[in-house]
Amino acid sequence: MSIFNTFGTPNYRNENFNNRRARNYRKKVSEHLSKTEIVSIAGRNSGDFTMDIADSDSIEKMFRKLGKVDAIVCIAGEAKWDHFENLSEEDFYIGIKSKLMGQVNLVRIGQHFLNPGGYITLSTGILADDPVVMTASAAMVNGGIHSFVQAAALELKDAIRLNVVSLGLVIDAYEKYKDYFPGHTPISMGKAVNAYVKSVKGKGNGQIIRVYD
Ligand SMILES: NC(=O)c1ccc[n+]([C@@H]2O[C@H](COP(=O)([O-])OP(=O)(O)OC[C@H]3O[C@@H](n4cnc5c(N)ncnc54)[C@H](OP(=O)(O)O)[C@@H]3O)[C@@H](O)[C@H]2O)c1
Repeated sequence: MSIFNTFGTPNYRNENFNNRRARNYRKKVSEHLSKTEIVSIAGRNSGDFTMDIADSDSIEKMFRKLGKVDAIVCIAGEAKWDHFENLSEEDFYIGIKSKLMGQVNLVRIGQHFLNPGGYITLSTGILADDPVVMTASAAMVNGGIHSFVQAAALELKDAIRLNVVSLGLVIDAYEKYKDYFPGHTPISMGKAVNAYVKSVKGKGNGQIIRVYD
């Protein structure tokens, strides 16, 4: 099975955050899938292909180079984190353009580069169901993707399946972000990876695969 992976970075745009350590969870997912599948990776500055999910032309160009695949896994997308009183309209458009429409466009365009019976897995996060302070935009985007997946999955052709993985704070990001997620239990790397395996190798469609503890 040839799997196309794209990865995302939560853009908290808040000087307290840099998430080098956070980049581990997506690597674990692709390492695990690579054991049995052919995995191609894309990112704005890293990976086998250069692509920015916030730019639908770059998505189209990337798929034209890559060709047909059996699965698409997206662990990408940014949204602005800040107190609601500080969030401008433009701030909301960061998440709408990147994590929301970036993943919607990956489905809109990617469906035409999937072999029949192919799989698409998107990523959101616990903020959709259990937001914390400073996440009005990130929570909105995650919630929007949940509804999109349930609706679009009803109409995808060629037996293409569409699911979304919604994780709690992953263990490798816990030390960095725990103060923003008071009382949250970190998700083990094994559980995080298995959530994507469940979507890519299971038979579900239109599923929100929640792993919150
Ligand atoms: N970490 C957690 O605990 C956690 C929990 C729940 C949900 N999530 C969600 O999962 C996603 C990934 O989080 P993460 O913490 O794993 O991120 P991450 O490891 O920081 O992933 C960053 C990767 O994404 C690529 N990327 C960023 N924006 C992109 C774009 N617009 N187009 C294409 N590639 C892009 C970056 O590659 P380039 O720099 O090369 O573009 C980088 O390799 C985020 O949407 C986050 O909200 C994370």
